[in-house]
Amino acid sequence: MIQQTLAIIKPDSVRNNYAGKILSLIVDHGFSIKAIKGVHMDTRDAQRFYGIHTGKPFFDKLVDFITSGPCIAMILEKENAVDDFRKLMGATDPNEAEGGTIRSLFAENKTANAIHGSDSSDNAFIECNFFFSIQERF
Ligand code: PPS
Repeated sequence: MIQQTLAIIKPDSVRNNYAGKILSLIVDHGFSIKAIKGVHMDTRDAQRFYGIHTGKPFFDKLVDFITSGPCIAMILEKENAVDDFRKLMGATDPNEAEGGTIRSLFAENKTANAIHGSDSSDNAFIECNFFFSIQERF
C-alpha cells in the first residue's frame, strides 16, 4: 500500500551540514519527496506538534531542542512508508540504533537525534497537514 509519512531533518543535522547526505539516503531507500521546506518552529508550534508527549519527562527538552534552529520538513511517499522510514531512522537513542540507519550515522544523543518520522499512519496524516497545505505538495 502506497503511504505518506512526515519526516523532519532536525536542527542538529542542519547545523552539522548533514542534510544533503540524509536526503540522499532517503531517496536511495526508495522514498519520493512529495513536499519539502525549511521551517524554524517557535515554542507554540513545537508544543502543538509534539502535543502527544505533553507531560513526559523529556517534553521541555524536546521542545527546546526542536526550536533551537531551522529544520527541513518533508512529506515522503513509498509503499509502507511509515514503518519503513522508522526503520531507516533507527532507534531514538543512537547508541541503540542499528548500523547504517540515519541515527547511527548522524545523531549525537537522545535529544539531538538527527531525524523525526511519524509513528503511525494516523499521525502521518495529522503531521503532514501540520506543515503542508495542498498547494505546497508536488
Ligand atoms: S515514547 O515515550 O516512547 O513515545 O518516546 P520516544 O518515541 O522514544 O520519543 C518521542 C520523542 O521524544 C524524543 N525524546 C527525547 N527528547 C529529548 N530528551 C530525551 N531524553 C528524549 N527521549 C525521547 C524522541 O527523539 C522523539 O522525538 P521525535 O521527533 O518524535 O523522534
